[in-house]
Amino acid sequence: MIPAAGMGTRLGCSGPKALVDVGGKALVVRTLERFSPIGLLEDAVIIVTPGHENGFKSALARAFPGSPFTIVTGGAERQTSVQKGLDALSPNTEIVVIHDAARPFISQSTVTESMQAAAKCGAATVAIPAVDTVLRGDSGNWLVDTPPRHELWLCQTPQTFRVEVIRRAHAQAAEDDHVGTDDASLVRRMGERVKLIKGSPLNFKVTTPLDLKMAQWVVREGLA
Ligand code: C5P
Repeated sequence: MIPAAGMGTRLGCSGPKALVDVGGKALVVRTLERFSPIGLLEDAVIIVTPGHENGFKSALARAFPGSPFTIVTGGAERQTSVQKGLDALSPNTEIVVIHDAARPFISQSTVTESMQAAAKCGAATVAIPAVDTVLRGDSGNWLVDTPPRHELWLCQTPQTFRVEVIRRAHAQAAEDDHVGTDDASLVRRMGERVKLIKGSPLNFKVTTPLDLKMAQWVVREGLA
């Protein structure tokens, strides 16, 4: 499942971020291409920006002629978008890989590793150990505390789950009016285990204009 429904506000573009050009291809197309060699493209559910369904449909049809994606209109928050995607999974799905459209350089081996971990433990997220010291601050920009760095990881995607587990986590979050910025945290807040899978700095999220320049450079240099 590919949440791709965000707008490119922080990127400074007026349309959906997932349709932004990265070295001649839309961001979402580059991301989806990563899933083709491991046979995950056919069942893909792509969650797209409300009001831009046709733009996504034509970009995807051009890049992947004949691929029968399920296209779902997203919501205002990422969590709502994923919830809508979960509702659209085909009934026999056992494991769901949720990967941001905005991370076009995910490696196939990391996806496979996350699927194996989810099959075994129920839930897994890709993340990287923090290399910088991470600070907790308050609303007035005063330092609150400095958690020990060796315990801190920076979250990436994919986050991969047994479908039953992530559906339960989303239902619980909705009941509690809890909105998180990722899906694995919804599983953890139910007290269940989530395996951390080591990702790579190359699996960065295209968010700012500088990220977009870096993504173009990665493509140009053939680094991923
Ligand atoms: O906003 P951010 O870059 O953190 O979003 C991560 C991913 O979630 C992106 O691929 C974005 O398209 C997607 N998203 C979504 N629905 C939203 C907001 C973000 O599918 N309402």
